[in-house]
Amino acid sequence: MKPIKVGLLGIGTVGSGTFNVLKRNQLEITRRAGRSIEIAMVADLNVERARELTNGECEVVNDANLVVSNPDIDIVIELIGGYGIARDLVMKAIANGKHVVTANKALLATHGNEIFKAAEEKGVMVAFEAAVAGGIPIIKALREGLTANRIQWIAGIINGTTNFILSEMRDKGLDFATVLKQAQELGYAEADPTFDIEGVDAAHKATIMASIAYGIPMQFDKAHVEGITKLQASDIRYAEELGYRIKLLGISKRTEDGIELRVHPTLIPEKRLIANVEGAMNAVLVHGDAVGATLYYGKGAGSEPTASAVIADLVDITRLATADPEHRVPYLAFQSNSLSDLPVLPMAEIVTSYYLRMHVADKPGVLADVTRILADLTISIDAMLQKEPAEGETQTDIIILTHQTKEKNIVAAIDKIEKLDSVFGEVTKLRLEELS
Ligand code: NDP
Ligand code: HSE
Repeated sequence: MKPIKVGLLGIGTVGSGTFNVLKRNQLEITRRAGRSIEIAMVADLNVERARELTNGECEVVNDANLVVSNPDIDIVIELIGGYGIARDLVMKAIANGKHVVTANKALLATHGNEIFKAAEEKGVMVAFEAAVAGGIPIIKALREGLTANRIQWIAGIINGTTNFILSEMRDKGLDFATVLKQAQELGYAEADPTFDIEGVDAAHKATIMASIAYGIPMQFDKAHVEGITKLQASDIRYAEELGYRIKLLGISKRTEDGIELRVHPTLIPEKRLIANVEGAMNAVLVHGDAVGATLYYGKGAGSEPTASAVIADLVDITRLATADPEHRVPYLAFQSNSLSDLPVLPMAEIVTSYYLRMHVADKPGVLADVTRILADLTISIDAMLQKEPAEGETQTDIIILTHQTKEKNIVAAIDKIEKLDSVFGEVTKLRLEELS
């Protein structure tokens, strides 16, 4: 059988990994795919570097439009990133009847609905294993391996950069800026690292997983997004004293009223396996009604780990290229005419447990005032930590862990607590998930 011809858009961190792994494991991959997969054309703005990387083994161009309009190309791999030029090129590739592989979670979370609709009309495949958790085959697991299940919730460490930052800060006492710079040098961080540290990248990935898990359209605009930039070292310390680790989690949950979709720093019990995922590693915990909890762990970023997922998609497409479109796995796991209109819930309606830290006057009655406010809002307390004031100080920190309640109750409680004369400044609120 003649080789399937691939056009690669962008030969940066992931593109170069894809080129190298495909070349190194060509024989093995051909034995699996049933025919050889050949990168015939590469487009990159830096043509000289691209020529060096490809060693004269394929045509290199500076204009990606030449790749997506080349009639000899069967599959286009988009590894440019962002949702500007990348979106135009993906849409053009689809319009030209090409299958598409992309690692671009930003593009799919924001324009996925439009992309899948166009692809379905054209009868081409769009594959995106690398878009979530890099080398971990979580898309395959959710879309195929867990297909018997009604998925109940997903909680994932799905941004390597922020997990690396949190781990290095905790273990080595390094400061935020130093560790972020290291993550950029190691190729983990996005071109715009604010996407990583402000939780946007994790929210893109959580949006994609929620769509596949619950059979809903992509709704990134409804996701709650909170990063790690406001996290205080003292909260990491207090959480540890209470037996918890703080991780940036991408969480989605099915409830009777709709879907929770949120990214925020989260306390999780230190004895959970996922609490011990360190450095740039990713892990995704999925709870299905039949299987229970399953955990997927591995490298969520980097050149070759991400290439591993890109090439898995290439092999899938190669195997299915000649199958009728209706015999292929649906883009979002559910048939496109069976997507659900379950709403994504506003944050006020989500239900979780909370960590509250407040700076208070060290005098009788303060704790009673605070606990009365919580009780009045039917918020039950799970644990409490009161620090001794430092030598000569008359103020101290109180930390309260609550049982589950609606977010709107905790917001109302904080509003009242902050108005107490004996409470100084803002109350810090973090969410807590037992993940049991
Ligand atoms: P890089 O910035 O390393 O690579 C992007 C490449 O695209 C660069 O070589 C860039 O050239 C080239 N490029 C930019 N604009 C154009 C254009 N108009 N035409 C052709 N080439 C262009 O990014 P990554 O490899 O890190 O990321 C690629 C995608 O993979 C992104 O969507 C990212 O989110 C995703 N991803 C990345 C992971 C990682 O670990 N890095 C992990 C999982 C997903 P130049 O440098 O000259 O501008
Ligand atoms: N910037 C991303 C991360 C790359 O740090 O996880 C992988 O998607």
